[in-house]
Amino acid sequence: MYTRHSAYSEVTTPRYSAHMPKTSYMTSKSSHPYPPSHHTRKRTEPRRYGIDDFKAAFERKGMELDTSKKLGRGKYSKVYKAIDNTNNRLVAVKAIDVIELTSDVKNKFLPREISCWRKLKNPFIVGLHAQYEAQNMIFLAMEYGSQGDLLRYVQVNGGIEERKAGRFMSQLMQGLQYMHSKQIAHRDIKLENIILFENCVKLSDFGFVRHVDTNVVSHTFCGSKSYSAPELLRGIGYNPLLSDVWSLGVVGFVMVTNRMPFDEKKPNNVIVELQRNRQYVIPPSVYLSSACKSSFEAMMTFDVRRRPTSTQCLTLPWIAPHMTVMP
Ligand SMILES: Nc1ncnc2c1ncn2[C@@H]1O[C@H](COP(=O)(O)OP(=O)(O)O)[C@@H](O)[C@H]1O
Ligand SMILES: [Mg+2]
Repeated sequence: MYTRHSAYSEVTTPRYSAHMPKTSYMTSKSSHPYPPSHHTRKRTEPRRYGIDDFKAAFERKGMELDTSKKLGRGKYSKVYKAIDNTNNRLVAVKAIDVIELTSDVKNKFLPREISCWRKLKNPFIVGLHAQYEAQNMIFLAMEYGSQGDLLRYVQVNGGIEERKAGRFMSQLMQGLQYMHSKQIAHRDIKLENIILFENCVKLSDFGFVRHVDTNVVSHTFCGSKSYSAPELLRGIGYNPLLSDVWSLGVVGFVMVTNRMPFDEKKPNNVIVELQRNRQYVIPPSVYLSSACKSSFEAMMTFDVRRRPTSTQCLTLPWIAPHMTVMP
């Protein structure tokens, strides 16, 4: 019914140069993962390394990387499963080829992803275990979600029953409220960036996060159009914390109806009018309680001044009854 939604970013803010946080190197800077004995290329041509070149380096760190099939992929990354033999746990490794990144992603978004993600420790946020860098690759080792992402889940299983979806919403809202309490906005909330674990869901993909100072509006337009709040589509400065709330409202809608409320193929101004008038289709076969409907409607409040914050959303009738207490 719908596909993965491409993230876009159009930078209108002045650039600044962020510094990469400290990194653990997989190999010493000068040495290559494989000895260059088999090199036949000219000296001037730098070698571009692929994931299989790093299996041995991971093994030296006690990790067995399974490159036979990907857990998933995004615009700039491929995600693989691995076993960490030092503690017997499964991990997911996000592999990013720096050569493929635009300079904005490389110098601004990726450093932010790593530095903010390191600060986030919550049961409903995918935890970052470690970060490695080698040649043209950056690897981010994180908690492994055995059930894949939420988009795939809905594509395979159809819409999610309202009570189960309410539990998921409540977990995601707790994760989001935690991020916001640290003044960090996600800015790319969508089904494919939510990972399913055995007993819960977690927010993931911090590729567009940013630190938000009080009353500071954002001018960098990022995220996916069909999940974007009206103020973003209108191209006016926006409060990224409140636009996260809108996007999570869209996630709630999609979970229970198995369809997107707004078609991203339409021009922005058309989508904005549909958003203003709440013109979306809930299939007649889907029964929704008023608690469920009024909750995602509250998150998708057109007027940003009246939209609840993530903290206020914790009391919404579809969310409050399902609060999960994690050990
Ligand atoms: N921890 C994880 N466990 C299982 N699958 C994952 C995990 N992290 C990511 N994936 C899969 O990989 C895809 C891409 O990861 P993501 O972090 O969203 O990368 P990108 O920033 O390139 O979009 C996800 O949509 C999901 O299918
Ligand atoms: Mg993603």
